Amino acid sequence: MATSTFYTLSAIILLSLTIATNACFPSDRAALLAFKAALREPYLGIFNSWKGGECCRGWYGVSCDPESHRVADINLRGESEDPIFEKANRTGYMTGTISPAICRLPRLSSLTIADWKGISGPIPPCISSLPFLRILDLVGNRLTGEIPADIGRLSRLTVLNVADNLLSGTIPRSLTSLASLMHLDIRGNQISGTIPTNFGKLRMLSRALLSKNKLNGLVPASISYIYRLSDLDLSLNQLSGPIPPSLGKMAVLATLNLDGNRISGPIPATLINSTISILNLSKNAIEGYIPDAFGPRSYFTVLDLSYNNLRGRIPKSISAATFIGHLDVSHNHLCGPIPAGSPFDHLEASSFIYNDCLCGKPLRAC
Ligand SMILES: *[C@@H]1O[C@H](CO)[C@@H](O)[C@H](O)[C@H]1NC(C)=O
Ligand SMILES: *[C@@H]1O[C@H](CO)[C@@H](O)[C@H](O)[C@H]1NC(C)=O
Ligand SMILES: *[C@@H]1O[C@H](CO)[C@@H](O)[C@H](O)[C@H]1NC(C)=O
Repeated sequence: MATSTFYTLSAIILLSLTIATNACFPSDRAALLAFKAALREPYLGIFNSWKGGECCRGWYGVSCDPESHRVADINLRGESEDPIFEKANRTGYMTGTISPAICRLPRLSSLTIADWKGISGPIPPCISSLPFLRILDLVGNRLTGEIPADIGRLSRLTVLNVADNLLSGTIPRSLTSLASLMHLDIRGNQISGTIPTNFGKLRMLSRALLSKNKLNGLVPASISYIYRLSDLDLSLNQLSGPIPPSLGKMAVLATLNLDGNRISGPIPATLINSTISILNLSKNAIEGYIPDAFGPRSYFTVLDLSYNNLRGRIPKSISAATFIGHLDVSHNHLCGPIPAGSPFDHLEASSFIYNDCLCGKPLRAC
């Protein structure tokens, strides 16, 4: 055998061995390097480890599927317990943009680029072409632009967290097609327009956090079809219209925050006798009476009805509530005696002030 043939064969054998054990696909490696090139992380040096051929081993925040050896997770958190942060004695800071090169990682299942405070630019729209994506967590950056219009293609997506950015535009209509979505967090952006009327299609949702945006229009009644929903936060938007009474009939709803909107109409009696334990309706235009529907099922750690147009008396049945931790009915037009009762014996005057003519403990005697 000629020496050159021997060397060629050895090279081929060596190369195949390298591909088998060296877990990184060249195209994945190229995509990661392009992703890294669009970012600048000056304080911790997390990207110093992103070198050499083996992106599946030792690259900070990167992990691969053990069978396919394809990049499956990118997990870069600017606030973490990782020793790298302890050593630098500071939280992370990163500038730059999220490169569309990320979309050339076809087996990506989770993408977390969270709390870096300085990453700007858009969410690359091509992200919706990553068929295996389950977690998209981009919280706490300075991302602008819109949530990609065809995000609904991500049929495996369970977590969509883009909170605390500078996103604008509307909630894409396709979002309600995310049949696996369990956790939606878009809080603290500048998202406007309405909540899709078919929001209730998101049957797997357990947390829907949409507060601190510029959403307007109605609270969709279809939300009450979301059987697993435990936490609904629509506070600090510009929502109007009535509260759908069906929200009080949901199986596991525990937190309902509608405070700081322009909600009108009465408080549905269903909310008072429900599974809800945190109910904040403060700072709206809610009118009518506080429903006389308290009973043993009424268990509120927070019941904040302040800054509305409620009138009439505080209903006697409130004494039948099992527990009321924090009650606030201040800044309304209530009148008459404050009922006595163990669920709210501990309350202070501030819970009742600025009404028309409430009286009795803890206010002045009637
Ligand atoms: C870490 O930073 C804090 C505040 O910046 C400072 O008070 C502390 O002494 C620093 N610790 C170390 C070990 O350098
Ligand atoms: C209820 O919402 C109002 C307005 O957003 C807020 O100021 C208040 O702190 C909330 N109440 C509780 C008990 O969290
Ligand atoms: C509270 O709800 C339960 C179950 O839905 C119902 O059986 C009960 O009559 C209601 N109580 C009041 C006071 O509305």
